[in-house]
Amino acid sequence: MTPEQIDLVTASVTVLRPRLPEVADAFYRRLFAEHPEVRPLFTGDQDRLRLKFADELDAIVQTIPDFAGFLDRTGALGTRHAEYQVRAEHYAHVRTALLAALAEAVGPQGWTPETAAAWRLAYDMTAEAMMLGAAHSHPRPTPRR
Ligand code: HEM
Repeated sequence: MTPEQIDLVTASVTVLRPRLPEVADAFYRRLFAEHPEVRPLFTGDQDRLRLKFADELDAIVQTIPDFAGFLDRTGALGTRHAEYQVRAEHYAHVRTALLAALAEAVGPQGWTPETAAAWRLAYDMTAEAMMLGAAHSHPRPTPRR
């Protein structure tokens, strides 16, 4: 991501901050409507989850400029997600639902092509780093000969 793209993502989080739990709620509603098969993975309290998701999204965005901090945070998050039975293909489902919820919350004026592209990159970087964290925590068993 370029410094300008990091600024765009940070700026939208700053604007959305008071409404981030609502954005999280809209995101989960979209995800469950579009992919009902992931619903059973969510066994905890949904109100607590949307607050945690909002805080985590905010914190991740803040760490992007400190790349080592970003990798530590997202790697650990990805490790926990492997324990929640989250698989690589789920990240694409979340991508669509989250970006749509963010676009709706920011509104057509703010969701410029540049902002949308910056968020796509931020999400992809986060998802890749989470999947790396998940892969490293679950080494493949050595195949038997
Ligand atoms: C940018 C990507 C994501 C972020 C920031 C994120 C954030 C979070 C956070 C903060 C939690 C609370 C627990 C914890 O901190 O470990 C959580 C739980 C969870 N997430 Fe994610 N997540 C992401 C992607 C995904 C994906 C792709 C899935 C797949 C469907 C998923 C499914 C879950 C599930 C099943 C839980 C446990 C919920 C429960 O206990 O009811 N997440 N997520």
